[in-house]
Amino acid sequence: MVRKCIFPVAGYGTRFLPATKSMPKEMLTVVNKPLVQYGVEEALAAGMTDIGFVTGRGKRAIHDHFDISYELEHQIAGTSREARLAGIREVIEKGKFSSTRQKSMKGLGHAILTGELLVGNEPFGVILADDLCFGEGASVMQQLLDVHNYYGQSVVAIQEVPEDQISKFGVIDGTEIEPGLYRVSGMVEKPNPEDAPSNLAIIGRYILTPDIFDILRNTPPGANGEVQITDALLTQAKKGRVLALKFKGRRFDCGSVDGFVEATNFVYQNLYLKDKQ
Ligand code: UTP
Repeated sequence: MVRKCIFPVAGYGTRFLPATKSMPKEMLTVVNKPLVQYGVEEALAAGMTDIGFVTGRGKRAIHDHFDISYELEHQIAGTSREARLAGIREVIEKGKFSSTRQKSMKGLGHAILTGELLVGNEPFGVILADDLCFGEGASVMQQLLDVHNYYGQSVVAIQEVPEDQISKFGVIDGTEIEPGLYRVSGMVEKPNPEDAPSNLAIIGRYILTPDIFDILRNTPPGANGEVQITDALLTQAKKGRVLALKFKGRRFDCGSVDGFVEATNFVYQNLYLKDKQ
C-alpha cells in the first residue's frame, strides 16, 4: 500500500513572474481550481491520503487552502454559493496534511530528501503540481500505482516529446518489457537533442521506494548545481529497479505560460462546461 504523497512546492516559479511574486505558483488557478488541488485530488483518488508539502517561503496560501475557512463558510452557509465549496471540503475531509520546509532551493532531489521526515521508510508518491495530468481510464498516479503494486519498484511517468523539447526533461534509456512499460537502464537530465538516449521524457509523477533517500543523501549536485532526482534514480536503475510507464492520458506543463493557457482551454471545454450542463 502506498499511503503517502509528497508535493515539492518550494520553487520560485520565475516563469510566471510577476504573478508568483507573492503567490505560490501552485495556487495559480486553472479555471476555478488551483493547480495544487488537482494534484491532491489525483493523490487521494489513488488512495494516497497522507499529503506532505515540501514548502518554502511565501507558500502559506497552500496551507490555508487545505484548511477550513470558518468565516467564509459561516457567511455562505445555507446559500446556493455553498455548493462551490463541496469539492474542497471533501478533499479536506479525506486527506491528512503535513508540511516541512526546504530552507534553500537546492533542486527537486533535495526537496524530495527534505520530505523524508514526512515519509519515513515506505514507498511514496511524488506529484509536481505544475504538471497537470488527466489520465484516461484511471488517473496517472493510479496507473503508476498499479505497476508499483505488481513489481514493487520505483516507477516514473514518461511521455514522448518532440526533439526540440527534449532538453527540458530528464530522458530515459530502457527496454520495453510490456506494451508502454520500460525497464530503465539509463537516464540523462536535460540532454542536448543529439545526446538524448530516446524521446521518452520523465514528467512530474513518481512512485519511489524509500532507499532513494540514502541515495539522495550521497548524490552530489548535478545539472544547474542542483541535486537532481534523475541522478538518484539512475543509481536505482543500474540495479534494475526503476520502471517507466508511458501513461494513458494528457499532461499540461502548467509551469510555462503556453502550457497553462492550453490547460485552461482544455479544462474549460472538457470539464467545466460539461459539469455545468
Ligand atoms: P521547476 O524548476 O519546474 O519549478 O521545478 P520552479 O523553479 O518553481 O519554476 P521556474 O523554472 O522558476 O519557473 C519543478 C518542481 O520542483 C519543485 C518546484 O516547486 C516545482 O514543483 N522544486 C524545485 C522544489 O520544491 N525545490 C527545488 O529546490 C526545486
